[in-house]
Amino acid sequence: MAAVSSSVASPSLRLSHTASNRRSLRRGVALRSPSLASDFRLSVHVGESVRRGLRVSANSAQVMEQPRREVGPKVSTVVDVDLGNRSYPIYIGSGLLEEHDLLQRHVHGKRVLVVTNTTVAPLYLDKVVTALTSGNSGVSVESVILPDGEKYKEMGTLMKVFDKAIESRFDRRCTFVALGGGVIGDMCGFAAAAFLRGVNFIQIPTTLMAQVDSSVGGKTGINHPLGKNLIGAFYQPQCVLIDTDTLNTLPERELASGVAEVIKYGLIRDAEFFEWQEKNMQALLARDPSALAYAIKHSCENKAEVVSLDEKESGLRATLNLGHTFGHAIETGLGYGEWLHGEAVAAGMVMAVDLSYRLGWIDDSLVKRVLTILQQARLPTAPPDSITVEMFKSTMAVDKKVADGLLRLILLKGPLGNCVFTGDYDRKALDETLQSFCKS
Ligand SMILES: NC(=O)c1ccc[n+]([C@@H]2O[C@H](COP(=O)([O-])OP(=O)(O)OC[C@H]3O[C@@H](n4cnc5c(N)ncnc54)[C@H](O)[C@@H]3O)[C@@H](O)[C@H]2O)c1
Ligand SMILES: [Zn+2]
Repeated sequence: MAAVSSSVASPSLRLSHTASNRRSLRRGVALRSPSLASDFRLSVHVGESVRRGLRVSANSAQVMEQPRREVGPKVSTVVDVDLGNRSYPIYIGSGLLEEHDLLQRHVHGKRVLVVTNTTVAPLYLDKVVTALTSGNSGVSVESVILPDGEKYKEMGTLMKVFDKAIESRFDRRCTFVALGGGVIGDMCGFAAAAFLRGVNFIQIPTTLMAQVDSSVGGKTGINHPLGKNLIGAFYQPQCVLIDTDTLNTLPERELASGVAEVIKYGLIRDAEFFEWQEKNMQALLARDPSALAYAIKHSCENKAEVVSLDEKESGLRATLNLGHTFGHAIETGLGYGEWLHGEAVAAGMVMAVDLSYRLGWIDDSLVKRVLTILQQARLPTAPPDSITVEMFKSTMAVDKKVADGLLRLILLKGPLGNCVFTGDYDRKALDETLQSFCKS
C-alpha cells in the first residue's frame, strides 16, 4: 500500500499512512474510518496555491490480497466499504441471487420496492422477488418498472418511483432495491435518499459498469438537461449484491463500457492491476468467469478504499473521475444515451492523457499503452466529430469540479498508477488538447 498524499488549497493538507495502517492492510484487515483520525498523521500547510484550487496526488496503491471470507456456499468474495456505522459489504460471486439469505438479512421492515427497468425486469425481477420472499412470508414486494435509458435518468421518471411508494403507502420502515445498471442504481438510490428523508436501500447491479463502479460508494442522482448527475445525494446502501451470472445477458457494447472504468482504476492508482488487464483483456471481453471475478473484485477494492478515505469527495475521491470531465461533455453534447457512459469516459481518458503528456507530466510510452488497451477493449479513443471545442468548453464550465470559476482536472503525473487532481495546469495546453481532438 503506497502512501496516499494530498494537498488541498487552503489550507493545504497532507495525509500519509502510518506504518500501523500499512501493516493492517497487509494482513488484509480493512481500514475502519473511526480510527482514521488517529491513524493518519496530519500536517497542515497554508500553501501558496490558494488561488489555484485543489491539488491531490494519488500514488499507486497496490490492493493487497484479502483472505477469502466465506459467507455462503457460493459467495467467493466480500469487499467491505468501511464508513463507520454506515459500512456495508459488497458480495461478489456467481449464483448469488439464489442465496436468499444474503438479500434477506439486509432488508429492513416488511415492505420492499424493487426499482428496475423494462429490459432487466423480464430477465431478473422474478428471481429477485423469490430471493426476497422465499421462506419469508412476512415480506411483501412491489415493483416499479421504469423505461430503459440514460435519457430517462431525470426528474419525471424519478417521480414514478415516489408515485409508487406513496400510492402503496410505504412508511419509513421499508427497503428500496435497485435492480439494473448504473441508471437504475443512481435513480433508486436518490429516491431512497429523498423518500421520507431516507429509507433503507440495497444495490443489485447487473451491468459491469454498475458492478465495478456505480453501485459502490453512495453517489446517487439524476441528470439535468444542462449537465450530467447535477442533482443528487450521497447515500450509502445496506449492501451491494453482485451476481456475476447477470453479465451473461449483457450486450457486448455494454460490457466494453464497464471495462473503461476498470482501466481507469489501473491508470489512477493501481499499476499492477493495469498490467494484469494488459495481459487479460481478451479473457475479460470473452467473459471468462475468473477474469471477470478478478476484475470486479479489484475494482471494488480500489473504489471501496478511495470512498473509505474520502466519502464526500473533498479531494482523493475526485481522482475516480479521470476522463469524466471530457466524457460528460461528450455525453451532454451528443444527447444522453447516444454514446454509453464508458465510451465517453474512454475518449475522455485519452484527452486527459494527451493533456498530461503536453504538460510534460508523463512520457509517451504511457500514452501508447493507454491507446492500445482502449483499442483492445474496442472503446473509442477520440470524441465524435460533431463535438466542438465550444461544446466542450460550455459543458466543462458547469462541471462539479469547477471551484471559484476554476476547472480542476484529474491528470496523470509520473509513472503508471499516479495522478493528480489539480487546477494548476497551463490553460494553453488544455486549449491545444481540445483543438487537436475537435474538427471545429
Ligand atoms: N454513482 C456512481 O458513482 C456512478 C459511477 C459510474 C457511472 N454512473 C452512472 O451509471 C450510468 C451508466 O450505467 P450503465 O452503464 O450500467 O448503464 P445502464 O444502467 O443504462 O445499463 C446499460 C443497458 O444495459 C441494460 N442491462 C442492465 N443489466 C442488464 C443485463 N444483466 N442483461 C442485459 N441488459 C442489461 C440496461 O437496461 C441498459 O439498457 C450513467 O448514468 C452514469 O452516470 C454512476
Ligand atoms: Zn464513470
